[in-house]
Amino acid sequence: MLISPLFAFISLCPILITATTVSYPRPSIYNKSYWYSLTVNGTNMYTVSYAGYDYVHLSMTKGDATKFRIASVTESSITKYNITPKKLAIQANITGSELSFSLSTEIDVPASSGAKIYNVLDYGAENNGSNVTTGVREAVNAASATAESIVYVPAGLYYIGNFVLRNSTQLYLAGGSVLRFTGNKTDYKQLFVKSDLAPGTWWIQTEFGSINVKIYGRGTIDGNGYYSQYTGKFIAHLIVPVDTTGFRFDGPLVRDGSFWAITPTQSQDVEFRNLKILNRLDVGQDDGIDVIESTNVRVLRAISIALGDSYSTKTWTYNTDISAPYPKKPQPLSDVLFENCIAWTTGVVFKDGIVYNAAVGIGIDHRYGTAKVANVTFDNIDVESLSGDNAGHGTWIAFFIESEGEGIGPVSNGKYTGLLLGYNNSAIIDAVDFSDVFMFANMTAAGTLGEMTIAKVNFTKSISIQ
Ligand SMILES: *[C@@H]1O[C@H](CO)[C@@H](O)[C@H](O)[C@H]1NC(C)=O
Ligand SMILES: *[C@@H]1O[C@H](CO)[C@@H](O)[C@H](O)[C@H]1NC(C)=O
Ligand SMILES: *[C@@H]1O[C@H](CO)[C@@H](O)[C@H](O)[C@H]1NC(C)=O
Ligand SMILES: *[C@@H]1O[C@H](CO)[C@@H](O)[C@H](O)[C@H]1NC(C)=O
Ligand SMILES: *[C@@H]1O[C@H](CO)[C@@H](O)[C@H](O)[C@H]1NC(C)=O
Ligand SMILES: *[C@@H]1O[C@H](CO)[C@@H](O)[C@H](O)[C@H]1NC(C)=O
Ligand SMILES: *[C@@H]1O[C@H](CO)[C@@H](O)[C@H](O)[C@H]1NC(C)=O
Ligand SMILES: *[C@@H]1O[C@H](CO)[C@@H](O)[C@H](O)[C@H]1NC(C)=O
Ligand SMILES: *[C@@H]1O[C@H](CO)[C@@H](O)[C@H](O)[C@H]1NC(C)=O
Ligand SMILES: *[C@@H]1O[C@H](CO)[C@@H](O)[C@H](O)[C@H]1NC(C)=O
Ligand SMILES: *[C@@H]1O[C@H](CO)[C@@H](O)[C@H](O)[C@H]1NC(C)=O
Repeated sequence: MLISPLFAFISLCPILITATTVSYPRPSIYNKSYWYSLTVNGTNMYTVSYAGYDYVHLSMTKGDATKFRIASVTESSITKYNITPKKLAIQANITGSELSFSLSTEIDVPASSGAKIYNVLDYGAENNGSNVTTGVREAVNAASATAESIVYVPAGLYYIGNFVLRNSTQLYLAGGSVLRFTGNKTDYKQLFVKSDLAPGTWWIQTEFGSINVKIYGRGTIDGNGYYSQYTGKFIAHLIVPVDTTGFRFDGPLVRDGSFWAITPTQSQDVEFRNLKILNRLDVGQDDGIDVIESTNVRVLRAISIALGDSYSTKTWTYNTDISAPYPKKPQPLSDVLFENCIAWTTGVVFKDGIVYNAAVGIGIDHRYGTAKVANVTFDNIDVESLSGDNAGHGTWIAFFIESEGEGIGPVSNGKYTGLLLGYNNSAIIDAVDFSDVFMFANMTAAGTLGEMTIAKVNFTKSISIQ
């Protein structure tokens, strides 16, 4: 059998504890995988059955070789497998229905309680999912009286309404905790309408003008997006660092967004680390992380699975549908770094990324406005496999200019044929440098567009290949 849609997330956090593997309890609302089981150094891990792929969320000790055994529940033997990233060349053995391999990595540790800790249970938070609880919000509000205080969310299931992360406070989500969006309009304040989708809200946002807000830990932020979009007909950005400075995010798993899940908006000095966004592949417009009108944003060590854009940068027209709640007029977008992850605008660097599977491996789609998309770098990106198509494109590379509303756009026939399509003589694709592009594991770099399978080229200038 093919065990490719398999994700065992190893959290990477600089805090050390004793040498153990931590598998977080599986919340009662999720089922175990019907496809595989996983043991780490002999200990059974909690698998989670999901939408088109299953996952395991765990942390482990730094640096030690640790044995992973994945066993198929349904097949008597494994005949084929992939372990991503392929460039790590992780060796595995197959014994019957079991695949085993070893990994070494850093560790993660939950913070302890103590001074400046505000435990949500002390504020009456219901951790059994029986109702929408206000305890989490009350703990955050109480914590806001003391700078650098920590709101501690222990394991359990919390349905919560809109809530605002206050100035200079931290939200710690312990492994096994789930903050869940209800998907029901009546539980939330409507903030915007996405004209082609639904009305929506900002679920978890920062206070305007705040500094040093942090979300960390190994809990889960569950957008309940499938229900929200299709039944509740009410969407949400799940996490919105907005008009904030020094925001940090490290560790939690974010799943099932109903719309662009994480949207740093009009903010400065924002960092996401060890980010795992697991959106469903059957919910439209469920982008992973969209950096909007912000500067000095870093997305490091991230995996983002989404039917929509995994990683994207955006600017938006003032006070128009989704931008209605933005506190300021359009702000510049610059100094954005995506490292150890991938996807695309001006001064954007995508570095050391792995495209595990995509319709378009790397791309730039300039569709609105007259400003130049410039200085975008894709550096050391492995495109491991391609499938399906996105708006008619199925290729490892697609840079194109479209004119929205005029019915003109590139036509894609040959699948997996790259394209560099400008629009006309005043909207050209200019100054694209290719270097060290290795096709299909060929160790000789491609020297021509043809060798890079870029077959459709129109209105371009100064394309260089080294
Ligand atoms: C797994 O076992 C190896 C060998 O005993 C040990 O060095 C390592 O720390 C263990 N890893 C974990 C995460 O427990
Ligand atoms: C879990 O399994 C039960 C029993 O098969 C099923 O009714 C339920 O829909 C499943 N829940 C999820 C979230 O998959
Ligand atoms: C595969 O099996 C061989 C023989 O038992 C062993 O030496 C090797 O370490 C195993 N490799 C992995 C990656 O588990
Ligand atoms: C859930 O927790 C709340 C508060 O702790 C309690 O009042 C309620 O009875 C619990 N509900 C269930 C179904 O256990
Ligand atoms: C949930 O909370 C609402 C409002 O406080 C209340 O009317 C309702 O009875 C609660 N439901 C449950 C199941 O506790
Ligand atoms: C959402 O609303 C539906 C219909 O009123 C209700 O059955 C469901 O329990 C609500 N969900 C939550 C999480 O409150
Ligand atoms: C947040 O805290 C900083 C430093 O204490 C302060 O300068 C700023 O005004 C505060 N912002 C808000 C919205 O209270
Ligand atoms: C692109 O980079 C060059 C050199 O750093 C700089 O002069 C130019 O202003 C940048 N262009 C844009 C649109 O940011
Ligand atoms: C290119 O297309 C745009 C939009 O249709 C148009 O305004 C512009 O005049 C065109 N330029 C040339 C050189 O044809
Ligand atoms: C490897 O790539 C080089 C450069 O594109 C090309 O000339 C050569 O034919 C390729 N070899 C194979 C086996 O495809
Ligand atoms: C290139 O542009 C010309 C003129 O607009 C058009 O006829 C042709 O179809 C274009 N080729 C591609 C591959 O889009």
